[in-house]
Amino acid sequence: MKLHLTINGKARTLEIAPNALLLDVLRAAGCKSVKKGCGEGSCGACAVLINGRPRNSCLVFAAQCEGADILTVEGMGTPEHPHPLQEAFIKHGATQCGYCNPGSLIAAKALLDRNPSPTVEDVKEALDGNLCRCTGYVKRIEAVLDAASLGKK
Ligand code: FES
Ligand code: FES
Repeated sequence: MKLHLTINGKARTLEIAPNALLLDVLRAAGCKSVKKGCGEGSCGACAVLINGRPRNSCLVFAAQCEGADILTVEGMGTPEHPHPLQEAFIKHGATQCGYCNPGSLIAAKALLDRNPSPTVEDVKEALDGNLCRCTGYVKRIEAVLDAASLGKK
């Protein structure tokens, strides 16, 4: 079946299996930032924005996304022009292996889009579903608060 959607600002038409997961479709479409961790909605590594809302793409059938607007980290920034949240993650050392970072960045962006001045508790709650096995959680909270304090999202 054909799927029409927008990925990182570009209109795309993709041929998909009716039961294909959005996670797999996005990766096949070149969005390798979308990571598969648990595959069951528990780790947040596969998080993307669907029409501005963070969702775990391992739990979404691509066919449910007809006409949707999808944002992955590829649409947030580039190595040459990183998003302020990406800069803040680097500045605060909120990354080691990096596997969790795309999902965390997406969750952080969703938070700052709806709440530009979050509290520590707001950040903790927003990133609650994004597990990290190596860096831990304090540094990324500092990074999100720093990006917010600069009025960047
Ligand atoms: Fe989707 Fe873990 S891979 S939540
Ligand atoms: Fe390695 Fe988070 S930086 S899992």
